[in-house]
Amino acid sequence: MIEQRFHAIHGTTPEAVVRAPGRVNLIGEHTDYNDGFVLPAAIDRSIDFAGRKRADRLVRVHSLDFNAAAEFSLDDIQKDPSKPWSNYIRGVSKYLEEDGHRLSGADIVFGGNVPREAGLSSSAAVEVGTAAFWKNLVGLEADPVYLVKLARKAENQFVGVPCGIMDQFISALGREHHALFLDCRDLTYRHVPLRDDVKIVVCNSGVKRALAQSEYEVRLNQCRQAVALIASTGRAVRSLRDVAPEDLEAARSALSEILFRRARHVVSENHRVLEAVRVLEAGKLERFGELMNASHESLRDDYEVSSKELDVLVELARNQPGVLGARMTGAGFGGCTVNLVRQEAAEAFAEAVRRGYQDTLGLKAEIYICKASQGALGA
Ligand code: GLA
Repeated sequence: MIEQRFHAIHGTTPEAVVRAPGRVNLIGEHTDYNDGFVLPAAIDRSIDFAGRKRADRLVRVHSLDFNAAAEFSLDDIQKDPSKPWSNYIRGVSKYLEEDGHRLSGADIVFGGNVPREAGLSSSAAVEVGTAAFWKNLVGLEADPVYLVKLARKAENQFVGVPCGIMDQFISALGREHHALFLDCRDLTYRHVPLRDDVKIVVCNSGVKRALAQSEYEVRLNQCRQAVALIASTGRAVRSLRDVAPEDLEAARSALSEILFRRARHVVSENHRVLEAVRVLEAGKLERFGELMNASHESLRDDYEVSSKELDVLVELARNQPGVLGARMTGAGFGGCTVNLVRQEAAEAFAEAVRRGYQDTLGLKAEIYICKASQGALGA
């Protein structure tokens, strides 16, 4: 418990305690930075924060996971390349101060069980957790969506990772027993109930996402180029969100083969999300699973962000009884797969995939049977 860890370090009780979950994306991958649709869920793994005010403007942070400490003054917040884990906290604190919110010096202890570099958004959980922590500690008057945008700005501009808005959004606004359907253009959203008789099972390939950042930027730029070329054929499009499948076919000759495939992933994925939400709300889980499968194929063949390990996990999964759908989740190039599995089959599924992965590739997979959880800034 984070309260006890705080007490062990500081000899007193914390004034503010918050919990920010990691996430798994059910469908809608590489669509958020194309103004598209996503359907993630917050999971029951979180980064937790406990802290107390100090009388000065110093922030002292203790990371349980790194067993290390860092400190900075709220009057001069700089990036610290020697303690990258602290930069998410620095970035969020800096942008809150810059927006005129008056924070207070604080002693903070944080840590949790969202695996790092596994595609489950531990960094978004740290950013959103920091925002939620300040909200509780100093009583910030701030709308959750404003804090989500600020958390993303910290990742994009302070830490320097060009992610979309999905991860921060779901860590903040996830809901127990629900997925969250988000329109990444206007940020309207609604929670979609998940049934108890199916489980979200996450398989961690254990492979760190080595290429993730450079290839992510390549994909981002390819999407922008595709939009510019499609627009040059006379179609009024601002982003791939605006491109219908027929438009893409019609503009095919304006695109290189590779740009066409990149765009086809995003355009088809947006359609899959819209259908996935409809069938989930109608209780048609078999169809939902088929859409997850199709999403994986598109990410593997058209967007080319899967990996051997992820493909093996997906194949193993699809051979198990009770599996409705299986796909890679998150940015790709390692990290995790997400699987929808009938409840009664979930334990056997986990065991079979673990064994199969060991037998096929000689690698260890960690498997988490997840519960959709509450976000850090939800009502
Ligand atoms: C990472 C990014 C998200 C999103 C996914 C891919 O998780 O942080 O914004 O782009 O990749 O869907």
